[in-house]
Amino acid sequence: MKAVILYASVHHGNTRKVAEAIASVLAADLIDVQKTEDFDLSRYDLVGFASGIYYSGIHEAVSRAIEAAEFRPDQRVFTVVTSGAPFGNFSASVTKLLKAKNARVAGSFQCRGFDTYGVFGKLGGIAKGHPNEKDLSDARAFAEKLRDTD
Ligand SMILES: Cc1cc2nc3c(=O)[nH]c(=O)nc-3n(C[C@H](O)[C@H](O)[C@H](O)COP(=O)(O)O)c2cc1C
Repeated sequence: MKAVILYASVHHGNTRKVAEAIASVLAADLIDVQKTEDFDLSRYDLVGFASGIYYSGIHEAVSRAIEAAEFRPDQRVFTVVTSGAPFGNFSASVTKLLKAKNARVAGSFQCRGFDTYGVFGKLGGIAKGHPNEKDLSDARAFAEKLRDTD
C-alpha cells in the first residue's frame, strides 16, 4: 500500500508533527503543498490531507489541492487537522469538500495545536505543548487502524 500526506503547516509546525507521526506508521510520502503543487496522486492507495485551522478553515493550499484532485473509487482518503480551540468539528468541513469530489473518506484525525495567534499570543498562547506525546500516540494509533483495514 502506497500512502501520501499533503499538508500545510504554517503556524508552529503542529500539523507537520502529526503528519510525520502518521507518515512514520504508513511509510507515507509527505508533500508540503505550499512548496509544490506538482504531485501525482494516482499512484497512491491512501491519500491524506492535513492542515492547521486558520480563521475556522483549512489552509487554502490544501483546499486547492483537494479541488485539483481526482479520486478513484479504490483510493482511500483521510483528513488531519490541528486547531487551537478544543471545540469545533473542523474535520467535518474538510470531509464535506472531499465527499463533493467523490472521495472515499476512510477517517479523520483532529487534535489541538499550540496557538499564539492574535490575542492568544499576548496571553502566552493556548493549547500549550500540543501536539503532545498523547496526541502523537493517538495519531499513530489512527494510522495503524488505516493501515490494518481496507
Ligand atoms: C492566522 C491564524 C488563524 C487561526 N484561526 C484559528 C481558528 O479559527 N480556530 C482555531 O481553533 N485555531 C485557529 N488558529 C490556531 C491554529 O489552528 C493552531 O495553532 C494549529 O495547530 C496551527 O497548525 P500549524 O502549526 O500546523 O500551522 C489560528 C492560527 C493562525 C496562525
